[in-house]
Amino acid sequence: MIIDIITIFPKMFKPVLEESILKRAQEKGLVKINIHNLRDYSDDPNKRIDAPSYGGGGMVFQIEPIYKAMEAILEAPIEPGRKGPSHTQRILFTPKGRTLTQKKIKDFLDCQRLVLIAPRYEGIDQIVSDYLVDEEISIGDYVLGGGELPAMVFCDCLIRLIPGVVSDRESVMQESFQKRMLDYPHYTRPEDFRGFKVPEVLLSGDHQKIKEWRQQEARRVTERMRPDLLK
Ligand code: ADE
Repeated sequence: MIIDIITIFPKMFKPVLEESILKRAQEKGLVKINIHNLRDYSDDPNKRIDAPSYGGGGMVFQIEPIYKAMEAILEAPIEPGRKGPSHTQRILFTPKGRTLTQKKIKDFLDCQRLVLIAPRYEGIDQIVSDYLVDEEISIGDYVLGGGELPAMVFCDCLIRLIPGVVSDRESVMQESFQKRMLDYPHYTRPEDFRGFKVPEVLLSGDHQKIKEWRQQEARRVTERMRPDLLK
């Protein structure tokens, strides 16, 4: 999978992409991530990429640099109303988008190519939303300063699901939200820390009993924390 990210803050991505699972996934060649500075595609002498909103209001990201960045990345012109191939998805991060869920993330596992646009929150020309992207995604009902963190959240959720990235794929698939159920609680050594004890059933060695207990606990936690998931 190749992921291209268009941003005006390329440096924000480095620390996140160069650690832990995301770093290893790139080293193993399971994903290639390219960061593009939107200003490199501006023809303005001062490398501006925004302009005042028609009709009054604040500054708005212009179509031209975004179009040029996408054209260079995908090596093809983009025509109004014409969708690209389905294995390539172009995603815009905005609080107006559809909310990201674990189910939605899995739909992108089949893609070979993703182009992520991370604008600043101030706004983006509506023509970009209407004609240049396949999806508008929000990571939740709150407003961030821009799409950089949402793009990183998206990459983190997606890349760990790519086969071969996490060695224990079975446990990844058991996690919270995979079955509209939160994960069961986990415990580790010591069995008793100053009187704080691990549930006895987990020390019993009875695998059937442990399985049943975990199912019960997952349901109990979901009922308490996220009853909406059970509806
Ligand atoms: N940009 C600003 N806030 C956002 C959000 N919640 N999701 C995606 N992009 C955003």
